[in-house]
Amino acid sequence: MSIVITGNPGTGKHTISSRLAREIGYTILDLNQIAIKHGIFEKRDSTLDVDTKKLARVIKKIITKNTIIVGHLAPYVVERSQIKLAVILRKNPYKLIPVYKKRNYSKKKQTENAASEILGIIAHDSIKKFGLQKSRQIDTTNLTIKQTVNKVKLILKKKFENDNVDWLGMVAKKNDFAKFFPNR
Ligand SMILES: Nc1ncnc2c1ncn2[C@@H]1O[C@H](COP(=O)(O)OP(=O)(O)OP(=O)(O)O)[C@@H](O)[C@H]1O
Ligand SMILES: [Mg+2]
Repeated sequence: MSIVITGNPGTGKHTISSRLAREIGYTILDLNQIAIKHGIFEKRDSTLDVDTKKLARVIKKIITKNTIIVGHLAPYVVERSQIKLAVILRKNPYKLIPVYKKRNYSKKKQTENAASEILGIIAHDSIKKFGLQKSRQIDTTNLTIKQTVNKVKLILKKKFENDNVDWLGMVAKKNDFAKFFPNR
């Protein structure tokens, strides 16, 4: 059975997936790459607008066993029955901003992506789609790449459950809502 690695941009999906794939002998199915290869996207600003209905149809056809399906679109294009596990990578939003800066994201894109992480939108959508039983969260903020990969392997062996993630409480404590949710 296949597994999903999802999460907001910059949480480490591709870094973790490629190393994990090597270590456990799985093949990678990169949702963005598939969308581009099949021309099922439109360019909008600096992002790709993917037609998720079409992508879901393509995925259904090409998915095989022992695949790591990677991408933030996973909850919208992968079916619950197609996977045994969905790992949602989380990262402290204050630590995500420097990752976005390095990628030269616009200020607006930096804030929007960090805000999405604070609200846990991908986590919510993944749990809704794949169910609590198949969904696990890892807080990668203070982990090395190796430690994160090892945590996924522990989850696969049912030796680790979930990290607690509460960015909303953290941002509230710091009185920083205006920073991530500015009035426009
Ligand atoms: N513990 C960790 N696990 C994964 N990545 C980490 C970790 N610590 C630091 N990183 C770094 O985080 C950065 C972002 O990783 P990566 O590009 O894999 O994210 P991504 O989720 O695939 O992003 P996108 O959705 O934009 O493709 C990389 O520079 C990676 O080396
Ligand atoms: Mg990536």
